[in-house]
Amino acid sequence: MRRTQIVAGNWKMNKTYQEGRDLVKAIVEKLQPSDNKVVLCTPFIHLNSVAASIKDISNLHLGAQNCHQEMRGAYTGEVSAAMLQSVGAEYVIIGHSERRKYFSESDELLAQKVKTVLGIGLLPIFCCGEELAIREEGTQNQLVKKQLEAALFGLEEEDFAKVVIAYEPVWAIGTGKTATPEQAQEMHAYIRALISEKYGEKRADLTTILYGGSAKPNNAKELFSQPDVDGGLIGGASLKADDFVAIVNSF
Ligand code: 13P
Repeated sequence: MRRTQIVAGNWKMNKTYQEGRDLVKAIVEKLQPSDNKVVLCTPFIHLNSVAASIKDISNLHLGAQNCHQEMRGAYTGEVSAAMLQSVGAEYVIIGHSERRKYFSESDELLAQKVKTVLGIGLLPIFCCGEELAIREEGTQNQLVKKQLEAALFGLEEEDFAKVVIAYEPVWAIGTGKTATPEQAQEMHAYIRALISEKYGEKRADLTTILYGGSAKPNNAKELFSQPDVDGGLIGGASLKADDFVAIVNSF
């Protein structure tokens, strides 16, 4: 069995309601049928309308960018996993570096979020990756190992099997400074080796590991052709239909 290849768009905090509708319409028009999955991770306010726009397209899926770790309750301004599911989301990004940095999300909190998301039947896209200082110091493997151990490796294999991992070096996010295909491959192979140690080689072979960080139409093909890179988590380039679809077509 070949592992699933995915291109996921992370819109971050971009697009008004109408702009979001226009973007999805353009993506739907341009996208060719394929076996690879495409996931649109939109702001909460778009989920309902995007779900309706993509419901007849089998390889297009819906995702959110965050959710709360508790199931419900007095958490003003927050959104629960059950709410996401109720509007048709299948995926949710957990542990994006922007959540870690600007909202102080810790490894412990992310472990809770992953459990909540899996408990309800949503699929986490779990982000890991190092800041520039760590890369310069050469300790990126230790950091990524710590992030995975803290939030994912406590899971039973049956649950871990539902997780998509996204390696996003923080120094490459929104900077135009993409990791080289070799740097991406090296880290993805390392992550796969860690999964193999923990859950066995078969599970490691089946785990989808995405690359994120300034992935664009002009570099996606080379990144995706690396043996351990199974697709991408795309920020800026997911906001333009032509660019996003070109990346989807880069396998
Ligand atoms: P950019 O593609 O804009 O660098 O963002 C990557 C990212 O953070 C996706 O989650």
